[in-house]
Amino acid sequence: MSFDEAWQAVTDVEGWMTEGQGRALYQAGAACPAEGRIVEIGSFRGRSTIVLGLSAAPGVEIVAVDPHAGNDRGPREFDGFEQEASDDHARFTANLVTAGVSDRVTHVRQFSDRAHKMVGGEIDLLYIDGAHRYRSARADIRDWGARVRPGGRMLIHDSFSSIGVTLAILRELLLSKRFRYVARSRSLAIYEVSPDHSRGSNAARQLAQLPWFAKNVGLKVLLSLGLGKLLAKLGRPTPEWPY
Ligand SMILES: C[S@@+](CC[C@H](N)C(=O)[O-])C[C@H]1O[C@@H](n2cnc3c(N)ncnc32)[C@H](O)[C@@H]1O
Repeated sequence: MSFDEAWQAVTDVEGWMTEGQGRALYQAGAACPAEGRIVEIGSFRGRSTIVLGLSAAPGVEIVAVDPHAGNDRGPREFDGFEQEASDDHARFTANLVTAGVSDRVTHVRQFSDRAHKMVGGEIDLLYIDGAHRYRSARADIRDWGARVRPGGRMLIHDSFSSIGVTLAILRELLLSKRFRYVARSRSLAIYEVSPDHSRGSNAARQLAQLPWFAKNVGLKVLLSLGLGKLLAKLGRPTPEWPY
């Protein structure tokens, strides 16, 4: 299936992944070796899960880890609510069936730090979009990232946009001997396990993303203080929450 067809399949699935980010995820999924393994941390209602399911070759194992506990669902949503949790789980399951990928994906309904034993072996493609607070994001990058094989890739959503995720990246990846920063599509950063890279230039390329991060944080502060309402009163369009 082409990317355009895969993107069409998720137009009605809620989520925060842009088309450019969907394309990057699709390309990473399609590049995963036959018999390889993809692990996604944070699936919400299945938008990214479906793109992965439609991109990967038939022999690729796809594991989606999401507790659907209502916590950390999206921007400024940290606390868990029972109703949202069960709605997300029901919508996730139904959306995967509609897209025809439910038999391709194994859902591990668990918090990522408790799910390691439920997923076997090395990972070819890791997609991190779970809890965005510093400690959780850092644990995902460090502990799940350690399982990505040489040459494998780790994609991280909300990089250089969420403060927690960005601090976790700076702590774990800025001077990493294993992971090389490749590129990003807005907040979706692509890293590759590449033990031979120059750490200096790798750090410099990540530090070069910080002005964009500062702009995102500034915009989030202004939106939180009511910039949207002010612009609406002036008849001006409201910038969207950056991701
Ligand atoms: C931003 S959403 C993911 C969006 C999804 N990737 C998409 O494209 O639509 C974050 C998800 O992370 C899940 N989550 C929260 N804490 C988690 C944790 N500790 N481990 C795994 N997933 C978690 C939430 O249940 C939520 O569904």
